[in-house]
Amino acid sequence: MTVIEPGRLFRDQDGRPVQLHGAGVLFIDGRFWAWGEDKRSGGTFSAIACYSSPDLAGWRYEGDALSAGTGDLAPGRVVERPKVLRHPASGRYVMYLHIDSADYADARVGFAVGDHPAGPYEYRGSVRPLGRLSRDIGVHAEGDAGYLLSEDRDHGLHLYRLTDDWLGVDSLVSTTLADHGRHGYESPALVHAGGLYYLFGSDLTGWATNDNRYATAPALAGPWSPWRLFAPEGSATYDSQISAIVTVHGTERTSHVYLGDRWLPDRLADSPPVWLPLHIGGGRARLEWHDRWSVDPRTGSITSHHAPHRAHQEEST
Ligand code: GAL
Repeated sequence: MTVIEPGRLFRDQDGRPVQLHGAGVLFIDGRFWAWGEDKRSGGTFSAIACYSSPDLAGWRYEGDALSAGTGDLAPGRVVERPKVLRHPASGRYVMYLHIDSADYADARVGFAVGDHPAGPYEYRGSVRPLGRLSRDIGVHAEGDAGYLLSEDRDHGLHLYRLTDDWLGVDSLVSTTLADHGRHGYESPALVHAGGLYYLFGSDLTGWATNDNRYATAPALAGPWSPWRLFAPEGSATYDSQISAIVTVHGTERTSHVYLGDRWLPDRLADSPPVWLPLHIGGGRARLEWHDRWSVDPRTGSITSHHAPHRAHQEEST
């Protein structure tokens, strides 16, 4: 049995630490596909790595979806938070990226397309959406409509509708400010559950973690509720920063999995994932700590596992 141990790095089929920093995940034909920042050369770009898994716990390295090159992808630049959507009309995979200079002054969003989840992806360039700053990103899809979440320090966290080919930004849907009102949240993720939208984000504290928050709205255009905590106050979201949320549509239940990063600024490649069950419903979200746990991709059920020496006493929640 492969389990998820929050705060510990996954190992790939060759025993190497999995590089799924700032990860994005899609469920495609019975398998989870994930893309992450390969941080083995530190904070600047070397590659976007691709992995696949049957259960979000055991990972197979599938190759680099995008490698360092020239221009936006030159070594020494910043390429973060790969998020992939499958464009329904073309069936192609579109990858969204935070594209930046090493001093984070460029603040752009980049686009790449591929015919297979693992790529290779063809890089299509970057933009400042509707002329605005764009650093941390998230994505959301609903039928033919694709959306980009993008943090703009000058104005807040924007939700944009993408163009029909999902390779550009069409229009602004809504903008939210953090509860302290100084700017918007970053590292955004959006979930639609039970007729409500849940928008998650982190405060702007760089590699340091903070108490992440969420807001809800009946429609993407809002109105958005006040921001609330979803992990114990002062725990800094169990010492992690949200990156994405995976929805597991099982035969018995729909489960949500929070993907977070516990950044180690001096050893970024060793930053462990903090992935946990996220309970969402009735307008509330709550992150639940488990030392060792698993999600059944078929039924959607979550199982908590005791420490290894008591592994025979498994317990279902
Ligand atoms: C954070 C951001 C990370 C990374 C980091 C660099 O605010 O969420 O993705 O860019 O800053 O300091």
